[in-house]
Amino acid sequence: MRLCKRRNRYFLLIGLLSFVFIMRTYIFQLYSLDELHQEVFYLRNNYRKTQFVTSMKLPSSNQINCSKVIQGDQDAVQLALLHQKNARKKELRISEMDYLKFTKDCNHYKMSRRFIPIPLSKEEENYPIAYSMVIHEQIEMFERLLRAIYNPQNIYCVHVDKKSPDLYKQAVRAIVSCFENVFIASKLEKLVYTSWSRVQADLNCMEDLLKSKVPWRYLINTCGTDFPIKTNMEIVRALKLLKGKNSLESEKPQYKVFRWQFSYKTTTIVERTNITKGPPPISSPMFVGSAYFVVTREFVNYVLENSEVQKLIEWSKDTLMPEEHIWATLNRMSCVPGSTPYHKKYDISDLNAIARLQRWEWHEGDIGKGAAYPQCTGIFRRSICINGAGDLHFVLQQHHLFVNKFDVRVDDYAVQCLEEYLRDKALYGEEP
Ligand SMILES: *[C@@H]1O[C@H](CO)[C@@H](O)[C@H](O)[C@H]1NC(C)=O
Ligand SMILES: *[C@@H]1O[C@H](CO)[C@@H](O)[C@H](O)[C@H]1NC(C)=O
Repeated sequence: MRLCKRRNRYFLLIGLLSFVFIMRTYIFQLYSLDELHQEVFYLRNNYRKTQFVTSMKLPSSNQINCSKVIQGDQDAVQLALLHQKNARKKELRISEMDYLKFTKDCNHYKMSRRFIPIPLSKEEENYPIAYSMVIHEQIEMFERLLRAIYNPQNIYCVHVDKKSPDLYKQAVRAIVSCFENVFIASKLEKLVYTSWSRVQADLNCMEDLLKSKVPWRYLINTCGTDFPIKTNMEIVRALKLLKGKNSLESEKPQYKVFRWQFSYKTTTIVERTNITKGPPPISSPMFVGSAYFVVTREFVNYVLENSEVQKLIEWSKDTLMPEEHIWATLNRMSCVPGSTPYHKKYDISDLNAIARLQRWEWHEGDIGKGAAYPQCTGIFRRSICINGAGDLHFVLQQHHLFVNKFDVRVDDYAVQCLEEYLRDKALYGEEP
């Protein structure tokens, strides 16, 4: 009996142990299944991410090695320049008619042209930027610039020259109509070089952009020959570092004062009259700089509403090249948001502001011998370098957000390499 009882207890113990063991295996199995699910989920997600990244890349023509070109490898640069020389004869560009066809199916158009469909990070999503794009010709250049700066959280106002050909305007409208956050300015100016119209085009966009629901922080203006040298993320970070200040060229006018000493008359061109103008209606001095700016939303608001600024605007309408003194002067008036004092210590050259890198014919050469920048490997237009592939190495080391000028008819490889470089950086987050 005693033995029997003991045996029973023994079986009970074995039973209990097996139960615990089975339960443990079962629990363990459940746990590892869960882990397995996580693993599959992760892999699938990663696969989707890899698929997305691959579908968004902008590879350049495989005739040239862009990473070598950007590193400044002289053999690669010479090869790119040679290819460009031969390609120039063909002129196989995308026409207005092509864009009218492409954009009939917007989803297909945006996907096949690889416009970024979602914000690439929370940081960028939370920091929308506004753009004013003043353009008048070369539809392909406009589209490629738009694609380079396009992010769905940003907002883009496009000002098309009223006197551009109808077909061009139609094609711009067709492209713009594919995006909710890209629109044509509600008022269009007829642009006359060196006249007030250039400033008015930006002002028209400013007014429209303030009315949009997008809570943009900074406004950047561009023209049709600009191209970014920074990703959207890098632009966001550069703007945050400005801490509410604007960044644009503003220097002493020196010999340029004649531009507002006389009244200028605009017809199809701008002509000087013999009428001398009165002094500017402001208590701070005049400055000159560039047409390009990086300004805060508060700056834009103030410029459109403040009565002293309105007086300066009215007074400037018959001056010569007002785009080169209006923003520069406003940015040195103490009442203007984001401005800097007008003391000479705050003068800032185009190379030190972040808005735009432009390389003038008369400042180029050997930096070691006192030149401002190396020789242009493209060509000069209006004394400004249209960058060739050989310029990317220098250009990409600069702190500016944008470079003027690029032109696919002068060097498509330069633009292609820049597109590939920026897109890779945007997708992988690091230097490619
Ligand atoms: C381009 O050059 C880099 C070296 O700078 C090299 O690693 C890469 O494989 C080259 N790419 C092609 C497609 O030849
Ligand atoms: C301006 O004055 C000069 C000389 O005083 C004269 O020759 C010229 O025709 C005038 N121009 C205009 C547009 O009145």
